Amino acid sequence: MAQGHEIMTVNSYNGGQITGWGIALGNDLVTNHDLASRMDTSDEWIKERTGISERRIGGTTAGLAVQAAKDALEVAGCSPEEIDLLVLATTTPDDQIPATSAMVQHLLGLKCGAMDLNAACSGFVYSLVTGFGMLALGNRRILVIGSETLSRVTDWEDRSTAILFGDGAGAFVIEASSDQSALLGWELSCDGSLRDILHAEIGGTIVMSGQEVFRKAVIAMTESALTSIKNAGLTPEDIALVIPHQANIRIIESAMKRLHIPMEKSVSVLHKTGNTSSASIPLALVDAVEDGRIQEGDNLLLVGFGAGMTSASAIVKWGGST
Ligand code: UT7
Repeated sequence: MAQGHEIMTVNSYNGGQITGWGIALGNDLVTNHDLASRMDTSDEWIKERTGISERRIGGTTAGLAVQAAKDALEVAGCSPEEIDLLVLATTTPDDQIPATSAMVQHLLGLKCGAMDLNAACSGFVYSLVTGFGMLALGNRRILVIGSETLSRVTDWEDRSTAILFGDGAGAFVIEASSDQSALLGWELSCDGSLRDILHAEIGGTIVMSGQEVFRKAVIAMTESALTSIKNAGLTPEDIALVIPHQANIRIIESAMKRLHIPMEKSVSVLHKTGNTSSASIPLALVDAVEDGRIQEGDNLLLVGFGAGMTSASAIVKWGGST
């Protein structure tokens, strides 16, 4: 992957903490058995090759984002008027124009700027890092959302991709704080020369060279994660929990092995969500919070990769109450 600058030290003077979170999933459950009744595949193949058992589809990108954001605002105990900026990660906007974040801003009653950010499946981490950057510029509360309706860009006749994707959203409120920043280290990368291995034309559906994406994903995730860990002044042993992009359990296993972090320290929700692109890391993070797997002071590694190809990682010291 094309690397950004090696060392990106976080300025801890203008820090921030995660104070709210929420999720939403598409209404309709689609199991592997449902897919097997429509195309030449099987529950066994999908589970063995991907780790996915079922996914939820339906809704709009704005609708799922609003649902997740309402819970995040409630957990944070803040009103829509108190949000200074909305950053919405999505690769499946509802309209070409305007940005989906404009609809979310309107539906939530926010009184602030709003922007979409498309870095494919790395989009949530890109948006989170952007949000922390805006806290450093003086914003006090930022809503960061990853929301996707991949079912709308899935070719339901193509068994090599139709089995993978689902719809959902995850939202986080981050707030300025005088304490040390929750964001300890980060890394963002992109290599646009790899466009052809994973893309969808405007109005088209996802086309993917699965094996090539798989190979590149493992390397990109590992490199990005190690850079973030180094930028945070930590080592892999300091990481309490890894929240990886939820694309394929075998990708997660390979990356964890290369990072020398035991698989038990990773979070996986893909068996019940499929790959929800920029919603996948927030869905997994909220799952871990709600399961009581995260303690105050834990160093979390969020790491994703996706079309572009992009990759992104962030080290977050958890300070939010669980
Ligand atoms: O968010 C980022 C986006 N994407 C990813 O991260 C995806 C990365 N890639 C992958 O997860 C995997 O490459 C896939 C799950 C997409 C495919 O798994 P694979 O182990 O790489 O399978 P393959 O493409 O090498 O195909 C193996 C065999 C082929 O049959 P032959 O040629 O060996 O007879 C395929 O035609 O499996 C066949 N196959 C299927 N069989 C049953 C492909 N899809 C299916 C299917 N059901 N759904």
